[in-house]
Amino acid sequence: MSFLPSRSRCPYRLDGSAADVHGEAAALRVLGPAARVELPGGVPGWSVTDPGLVRRLLIHPRVSKDAHRHWPAFIDGGLSPDWPLRVWVDIRSLQTAYGPDHSRLRQVLVPAFTAHRVRALAPWIEETTGTLLDDLAKAAIAAPDGVVDLRTRFASRLPWRAVTTLVGLPEDMHDRFQAVNDTVFTTDLSTEQAEANMAEAARLLADLIALKTEHPGDDIAGVLIDAHREGRIDERELGDNIWMVLGAGYGTTANLLDHAVVNLLTHPDQLELAVSGRVGWDQVVEETLRHQAPVASFMMRFPTEDLHDEATGLTFVRGEALVINYAAVGRDPGVHGADADLFDITRATAREHLAFSHGPTYCLGAELARLEGRVALSALFSRFPALELAVGRDRLAPLPSLIFNGHREIPVRLEGNHNS
Ligand code: HEM
Repeated sequence: MSFLPSRSRCPYRLDGSAADVHGEAAALRVLGPAARVELPGGVPGWSVTDPGLVRRLLIHPRVSKDAHRHWPAFIDGGLSPDWPLRVWVDIRSLQTAYGPDHSRLRQVLVPAFTAHRVRALAPWIEETTGTLLDDLAKAAIAAPDGVVDLRTRFASRLPWRAVTTLVGLPEDMHDRFQAVNDTVFTTDLSTEQAEANMAEAARLLADLIALKTEHPGDDIAGVLIDAHREGRIDERELGDNIWMVLGAGYGTTANLLDHAVVNLLTHPDQLELAVSGRVGWDQVVEETLRHQAPVASFMMRFPTEDLHDEATGLTFVRGEALVINYAAVGRDPGVHGADADLFDITRATAREHLAFSHGPTYCLGAELARLEGRVALSALFSRFPALELAVGRDRLAPLPSLIFNGHREIPVRLEGNHNS
C-alpha cells in the first residue's frame, strides 16, 4: 500500500489533559499539513492542521465519520473497550453518520434549525440573559469577597438554557442531564467514570423519551420522536441524536462566551472598541471563533479508501483515524498573517475560520450560537462596565479536553476592585 509519511515518522503524543491547546497546535503545524499523532490510550491517528487540506477532507465523499463501518480498530476489537474517547465514535448520531445516513439524519434535524426558528428565539435569549445577569449580581453580593464564577453562572448557563429549550427538556431534568453532560465529553476520564456516565446517560434518555412520547412538544425531541414513529430513524438514533444536540449546543457555545469574555477583559483596547460601538459584537464573536476555536479538535474521520492529496503529497490510508484540528486552522499564519496568535477584533480575516466546520457537516447551530454570543456579550459588558478577572489570566485552568476548548472556571468581580 502506498504511503507517503508526514515530515516526522515519530507520532506526536497528544496531551489528553489539553494543558496547552495552541502550543500543541503550533508544534503540530511544524510537522506538516497533517502530523502523525498518538491519541490518549495509545491510539494512532493524524491531526490535520492545514486549512486547505482540512477543507478538502471535510468535503471529500470518501471520508467518513462512521467508526462502526470505517474504522478497522473499532470494528475488529483492536480498540480497547474502555478507551476513554469511545463515546465520541460509538454514538449513532448526525455527527458520526456517513453518506446517505448523514443526509437522512440531517434532513430530519434541519427543520429544527431554520433561520426563522432561530430569529424567533431572540427575544427569549435577551430575556434569559437579563435574568441570568440579575442572578449573577445577586451571587456576587452574597459572596464574601464579591467573586463569582462567570463560566458556571453565565457562559455555560445561557447556552444550556437555550439548547434545553430547543430540545424540549423539562426543567426538573436539567440538573441531572447537565451533570452527565459536563463530564461525558472530557477526554481524561477513568474507565469507571466513563462507564458510569454512559449508564446514567442511557437512564436519563429513556426517561426523557418516555415522557416526551406521552407529552409531545414543538421541539427537537418531538421532531426526533416523530421521525422514529415514521420509521425514518431507529431507536438508537432517536436517543443518540437528542444527546448529540444537547452536547453540541452547550459546551461549544459556553466556550465561545468564555473565551470572548476572557479575551476582552485581558485586552482593554479591544473591549473599548466593542463597547464604544466602533466594532460590532458580531466581529467580536467571529474573531473569538477564529482565535479560540470552541471545538479545538473533532474526533474523528476515516478515509473509506486510500486517499492521496495532490497539493500536500500526503496519502491517508483507508481506515486511518483523522482528527480535524480546528484550533490550529484558526491561527494559520498563511491565512491570518504572522500575528495570527493575536486577538484583534478589527482583523480583516476574522471570518475566515472553520470553527463551525465546512461543507456537508457545517454546524446546524451556527446562527443560534452567533446570536447567543452577540446578545450575551453586549448585555454583560453594558450591565457591568467595570467587570474584571479576579485572578491573573495565567491562573485560568483549561478544560481537560482535547475537543472542548474553554476554562474550568472564570472568577470575576462584577464591579471592579473597589467592591472587594
Ligand atoms: C460556538 C458554538 C459552536 C461551535 C464552535 C460548533 C462547532 C461545530 C463543529 C466544528 C461541527 C462539525 C464537527 C465536524 O464534523 O468536524 C459542528 C456540527 C454540529 N453542530 Fe455545532 N457548534 C456550535 C454550536 C452549536 C449549537 C448551538 C448547536 C445546536 C443547538 C449545534 C449543533 C450542531 C450539529 C447538530 C452538528 C452536526 C452537523 C452535521 O454533522 O451535519 N452546534 N458544530
